[in-house]
Amino acid sequence: MGVIISIKNSFEVEFFFVLDETWQQIGADGSAATTLHQFDRQHMKYFWSMPIWQELIQSKTNQTLMILCLAKQGEKVTALGGDEFVLTISGQARHLVGFILGDINPEEHLFHLFKITTHSNVRRLQIALQGMQTLERWLKERGLDKIFLEVECQNQEAQAFYASQGYRNLHLSKSFYSDGQNAFIMLKDLTLSK
Ligand SMILES: CC(C)(COP(=O)(O)OP(=O)(O)OC[C@H]1O[C@@H](n2cnc3c(N)ncnc32)[C@H](O)[C@@H]1OP(=O)(O)O)[C@@H](O)C(=O)NCCC(=O)NCCS
Repeated sequence: MGVIISIKNSFEVEFFFVLDETWQQIGADGSAATTLHQFDRQHMKYFWSMPIWQELIQSKTNQTLMILCLAKQGEKVTALGGDEFVLTISGQARHLVGFILGDINPEEHLFHLFKITTHSNVRRLQIALQGMQTLERWLKERGLDKIFLEVECQNQEAQAFYASQGYRNLHLSKSFYSDGQNAFIMLKDLTLSK
């Protein structure tokens, strides 16, 4: 259930979709929740607790979709430090270099993006860009045509990324985050892109 894309001048990344029964496949590796929690904690300011990751992995949900960005091990990945987080899927060790996570809302033709992150050592290689394009194709094939998200007003890095992908600011949500920080609500209309 993966899409393999060659990342510019680097290595191949597989975008592996986790939905329904595939959550169970991920959960078969007893350490998956720990790996995802640690990756989240290291790369996201507002990370989820271990119980939330454990509950999600056990849920076999068809509402929450995760796209794992998995690199094939090789000299380049190792040199970049991208082999730090390992997930074992169907008995095979895979190197986690990022993930995208959100909820599918078929009734409203909408995808709510919760999280997107790439390993800090493999940024600006267009992994997030390719991952989002893979997600958009998947959503469009299923009749979903909008992605919305919240981003902390101070997170200029992520805002630059979303702006480069055609997201627009809808409004400001005051004290959106647990520490009182404000968020911009951003939206992308997939019918406007190819
Ligand atoms: C935001 C994030 C996912 C981008 O991942 P990435 O794999 O480095 O992004 P890409 O290489 O695919 O970037 C694609 C384009 O987005 C824009 N972009 C990405 N990061 C940028 C930055 N730090 N500054 C300015 N523009 C940026 C650029 O236009 C870039 O294209 P270019 O490199 O050819 O100029 C990554 O920085 C990250 O994980 N940040 C921490 C977690 C986070 O804040 N997530 C969002 C929470 S709402």
